[in-house]
Amino acid sequence: MEKIIDENKQGESLVLEQKEGNKRKLFIESYGCAMNFSDSEIVASILATEGFNTTQKLEEADLVLVNTCSIRDKAEQTVRKRLEKYNAVKRDHNPKMKVGVLGCMAERLKSKFLEEEKIVDLVVGPDAYKDLPNLLSEVDEGRDAINVILSKEETYGDIAPVRLNTNGVTAFVSITRGCDNMCTFCVVPFTRGRERSRDPQSIIEEINDLWNRGYKEVTLLGQNVDSYLWYGGGLKKDFEKASDLQKATAVNFANLLEQCAKAQPKMRFRFSTSNPQDFTIDVIETMAKYRNICNYIHLPVQSGSDRILKEMNRLHTRQEYMEIIDNIRRLIPNCGISQDMIVGFPTETEEDFEDTVSLMEYVKYHFGYMFAYSERPGTLAERKMEDDVPEADKKRRLAKIVELQQKHSGMRTKEHLNTMVEVLIEKESKKSSDHWSGRTSENIVCVFPKEHYKVGDFVNVKTIDCTTATLIGEAVGYSENN
Ligand code: SAH
Ligand code: F3S
Repeated sequence: MEKIIDENKQGESLVLEQKEGNKRKLFIESYGCAMNFSDSEIVASILATEGFNTTQKLEEADLVLVNTCSIRDKAEQTVRKRLEKYNAVKRDHNPKMKVGVLGCMAERLKSKFLEEEKIVDLVVGPDAYKDLPNLLSEVDEGRDAINVILSKEETYGDIAPVRLNTNGVTAFVSITRGCDNMCTFCVVPFTRGRERSRDPQSIIEEINDLWNRGYKEVTLLGQNVDSYLWYGGGLKKDFEKASDLQKATAVNFANLLEQCAKAQPKMRFRFSTSNPQDFTIDVIETMAKYRNICNYIHLPVQSGSDRILKEMNRLHTRQEYMEIIDNIRRLIPNCGISQDMIVGFPTETEEDFEDTVSLMEYVKYHFGYMFAYSERPGTLAERKMEDDVPEADKKRRLAKIVELQQKHSGMRTKEHLNTMVEVLIEKESKKSSDHWSGRTSENIVCVFPKEHYKVGDFVNVKTIDCTTATLIGEAVGYSENN
């Protein structure tokens, strides 16, 4: 469904360590992007101080929260179905249960949710989670409660998220919130507000804390991480108004990456998502300089056609994108690169689509996340353009690039066959309890016999076989990173 978060994690409910004395039970589940999963941890942390322990049993929950996604119509339909399920549970098992909607759908639909979905008691947008204690006391008194105010400052930098249901090895740390890009198809700028960056000091503190708790890999999260800019607080768009001192001491994304890499030299760092229009060569140089920054870049392009890129308000050309790819290949020869692609954007012709195909042939991405265009209410494309590509064409185009991507993924995985790769063990392989599963620096999944190794170890693995997306190997020893 969404990138970063595996499909089987969609809808996963969060379980945290039980705090003694907490009497109320919270069931919280998340849909959509990694940022939502990360936000749910912040929400659960806030509610842990309000007397809530998490539960995975819907039937026993006092409060059910669902963190929602609006990116495509299908994502919203999934959430509507979950609300039906909560309704049934409430009716049959637990009449006192309260239900709250968090995240992008809450922000998009606002009070409409309370009118449309009678089951919903609480609606909270992505910048209002600190108001949850107040909103809950409203709900406790029998009133519906809503806060969908978007903030210019909120980064939750001062909230230490508790992450106890994870593998204990990899974690997400958000570094920016919101997005100022206004890609014409995208609802995110409307649901997550203006772009703001988090204080680098609080990011480094969170990373140090994660390291001390045994975590070995952090993914820095933002809608557009390359646009990260800290100059003492404030919106990205107000940087021009900053003082000379603020400008001179500003921290950009390459600086932040370097600070992270230096703060924890044995921790692996990844980041997501990069936007070609803000991606700078100093980021590639920083990646090349530090071995603990993984050789992997998720660089969505959406289309290979200059005309469509322009209609999408993606502020770069096909040629400029190809130059970034060339620079990455020059400085980090084996770097893993992945894409997001949309087919069937309004006015897309067969010729435009063939440009997408040829761009994919040029890059031969390691992975890809491909979508049929879904018109989103309120976006510029919805207001100004007709959703005029027939469903059948969208489907056919999507199937074609999905197949092409499979071929390229297979080729890329094969390039690592009969080589030595460094794998961070994350968990047991889904297919075999005798094997570990982890990822290489390039983000390729690698499985190998467990032997004496354990979760969290960095292991050198000799690869001996592969499928399209998975390397199969044998451990030859701990890597120098241990
Ligand atoms: N910058 C964000 C993008 C979030 S949306 C990030 O952190 O990844 C994720 C992907 O969903 C986009 O890159 C785009 O390929 C796809 N997408 C966004 N809006 C869409 C729409 N209206 N229809 C189909 N796909 C869409
Ligand atoms: Fe959406 Fe474009 Fe921002 S895809 S999240 S508006 S970079």
